[in-house]
Amino acid sequence: MDIHGYMAQLKEEIDQQLIAVIACPTETPLLVEAMCYSVENGGKRLRPILLLMMLEAFGYHCQKGMHAAVALEMIHTYSLIHDDLPAMDDDDLRRGQPTNHKVYGEAVAILAGDGLLTEAFHVLAKDKGLPVETRLELIQLLSATAGAQKGMITGQALDIQAEGKKVNLMALKHIHELKTGRLIEFACLAAGMIAKQPPEIMSKLSQFAKRLGLAFQIQDDILDVEGDAEKMGKPVGSDASKRKSTYVSLLGLAAAKQMLADEIEAALSLLDDLPIKSDRLKALTHYVAKRAH
Ligand code: IPE
Ligand code: IPE
Ligand code: MG
Ligand code: MG
Ligand code: MG
Repeated sequence: MDIHGYMAQLKEEIDQQLIAVIACPTETPLLVEAMCYSVENGGKRLRPILLLMMLEAFGYHCQKGMHAAVALEMIHTYSLIHDDLPAMDDDDLRRGQPTNHKVYGEAVAILAGDGLLTEAFHVLAKDKGLPVETRLELIQLLSATAGAQKGMITGQALDIQAEGKKVNLMALKHIHELKTGRLIEFACLAAGMIAKQPPEIMSKLSQFAKRLGLAFQIQDDILDVEGDAEKMGKPVGSDASKRKSTYVSLLGLAAAKQMLADEIEAALSLLDDLPIKSDRLKALTHYVAKRAH
């Protein structure tokens, strides 16, 4: 099966579990509808797919990582709902549909994000398929990578602070590593934790994730300039209109593409350093650089 077929298969399993977790009976149906709206409307599921593929590369069955994968996608989806709010990037289109606040209003959109964030930790805590110590490690890892001390939220805060200012390349790389890289790092490290890998392997996983995460955000910056809004399901030109520093605005398109190629090459060679079956992960790494959405 080619990489796209395999990604589609994993995506289907992830989607089923995600909906089962979120669409529960409730006394606040509008809130749950808003949570489902953003989850259901077709993200790529790259982060949970990466987690499951990495786990399989260590010889484990992907079901062992399904709860961690679902929790990760819930955190990612909440971050997108909040990222699109008028006070943040103020975007009207996400995953091919009007953004959450455009449909449900800002208050419900904020709460839908809060709901996904909080419930994600519940999903990890109640994962009976994993030993209690592993669950605790995963909860610590997810709060660190998604959080406000060198986590995704730190990156989002730095991104907002940098609006309208010209930041240097080192500062921009730091923002990208945090706002995008950290959740990608969770995907790789969670797989390593479930597969009980020693510290030296965890450190290599982290290095791989940093390269892949940076590559992913550089491609996101490139697509914001030369992508196709219809394919991407989100607007192009959003970064320029908010006067964001991006790899493209700082370096120009050609140099940004070269940086992307360098990061991908480094990520691929880190995969060769890991004691895993890496064919699918290599194909996934190439996909990150070539993706059109
Ligand atoms: C968008 O992530 C936000 C970034 C970190 C660039 P994705 O491109 O993975 O978004 P979905 O989940 O496929 O919609
Ligand atoms: C967002 O980065 C990263 C998040 C943590 C949500 P962007 O603001 O560039 O993501 P898009 O382009 O809106 O998807
Ligand atoms: Mg943003
Ligand atoms: Mg945005
Ligand atoms: Mg972007």
